[in-house]
Amino acid sequence: MEFRQACGQFATGVTVVTALDPERGPVGLTANSFTSVSLDPPLVLVSVAKTAGTHRAFSEGPGFAVHVLAADSKDLAQRFATRDIDRFEGLEWTAGTLGVPLLSGALARFECAPEHAYEGGDHTIFVGRVVAMDLADDADRPALGFFRGGYRVID
Ligand SMILES: Cc1cc2nc3c(=O)[nH]c(=O)nc-3n(C[C@H](O)[C@H](O)[C@H](O)COP(=O)(O)O)c2cc1C
Repeated sequence: MEFRQACGQFATGVTVVTALDPERGPVGLTANSFTSVSLDPPLVLVSVAKTAGTHRAFSEGPGFAVHVLAADSKDLAQRFATRDIDRFEGLEWTAGTLGVPLLSGALARFECAPEHAYEGGDHTIFVGRVVAMDLADDADRPALGFFRGGYRVID
């Protein structure tokens, strides 16, 4: 589809966004719709498909955590974009201040409390207020990018 192809000309980073489903527990998805919105207050957004299995955790859970992936985390990105698997199987995670799952190895990590949810066609735009964040000691490592439908290394 031409619209998708045109959007793909816009190069982005790649994130894994985790949340806590009231019934299913830890959930998460790979997302490149992450954007920083406001510095004061610190707000970010992620746009989540209404059909995504994780959508309910965003609308009903305690918040979400955004993990900005390094170039060596392509496997993690693929895992969190794969349907019908337990995306957390064998993964170590800890609960953050809001109770949402936190993964290690990200270049940066933002824990976000729900602030707004906006109608966005077949997606919902979730705006979160950053309540805690981590910047990796080695945050100058290459980042994982997504461009023209494929993963890239951004250095
Ligand atoms: C690079 C990349 C970026 C993606 N970005 C988003 C996104 O911003 N929002 C979204 O809802 N899905 C996005 N997806 C799709 C989801 O990761 C995944 O396919 C979706 O969660 C389907 O699984 P689920 O219904 O089991 O959650 C992206 C996939 C990839 C590979």
